[in-house]
Amino acid sequence: AAGLTTSWLGRNLYYYDEVGSTNQVAKELADGGAPEGTVVIAEGQTGGRGRRGRSWLSPPHKGIWFSVILRPRVAPALASQLTLLAAVAVTAAIRRHTGLPPGIKWPNDILAGGRKVCGILTEIKAEIDALEYVVLGTGLNVNLEAGDFSPEVRPLATSLFLELGRPVARLPLFREILYQLEKWYERWQEEGFDPVRRAWKEASVTLGREVEVNSWREVFRGVAVDIDAEGALLVRGGGGELRRFNSGEVSLRPA
Ligand code: ATP
Ligand code: BTN
Repeated sequence: AAGLTTSWLGRNLYYYDEVGSTNQVAKELADGGAPEGTVVIAEGQTGGRGRRGRSWLSPPHKGIWFSVILRPRVAPALASQLTLLAAVAVTAAIRRHTGLPPGIKWPNDILAGGRKVCGILTEIKAEIDALEYVVLGTGLNVNLEAGDFSPEVRPLATSLFLELGRPVARLPLFREILYQLEKWYERWQEEGFDPVRRAWKEASVTLGREVEVNSWREVFRGVAVDIDAEGALLVRGGGGELRRFNSGEVSLRPA
């Protein structure tokens, strides 16, 4: 369907005009046994969700709002690598398709012109030592106009349309995103995290910057120096101490 260039990703595809949240639909399908590579996409979402329980604006026909079901046979702790992988794949697709050079803000916000153009929400179901499935939800602002964003979000957000000054056809871009996701996922399974880590570092706008990390337990300021072999962010504090943060429930601001 839809002229896909993938071999397995999106071959089982659910297309909706409107849903609450594609992540929610994908989780229900995954609970019902949907196979790896199942994709759920909607023209619009009435209850799009962002990280930390926030709502995600998803007006009809203007973005690419979709979720992918993956079933890698790895420990639950490695799921965060898939979030970074998704950011790398979507960034590559945007670059190839539009010529824009997007940046990645740790862990998985994609920025264009310094503002958020895409967000990724990873949800997992796992036993203690085995991952059952991962749902990777991606929201890419393609043709949203300034007036589509609320006054609070507007200064922080953008769209491909706003950055390029022309509308962008969604279907070929979506095909490119699925193609890149499949390619990076296969590479990750064969070669591990290292190639993803290198590509992520190349696109990163976080490394080398002064940051403020807000986790549930503390606020920590320092310079973001690297991501480690597991995908955690390493931050060097003023006293020279090196701290490690997992992508889970942490948010980052420039300091
Ligand atoms: P995170 O904690 O996920 O990194 P953030 O607060 O750093 O988020 P910002 O770029 O600072 O992200 O702010 C963007 C805000 O706008 C976020 O609260 C985000 O959830 C919200 N938002 C809602 N819908 C959209 C959208 N379609 N595009 C961009 N931002 C959106
Ligand atoms: C973020 O907070 O940055 C993550 C935003 C993720 C939005 C996408 S849109 C498709 C999928 N369905 C959802 O409800 N959320 C994700």
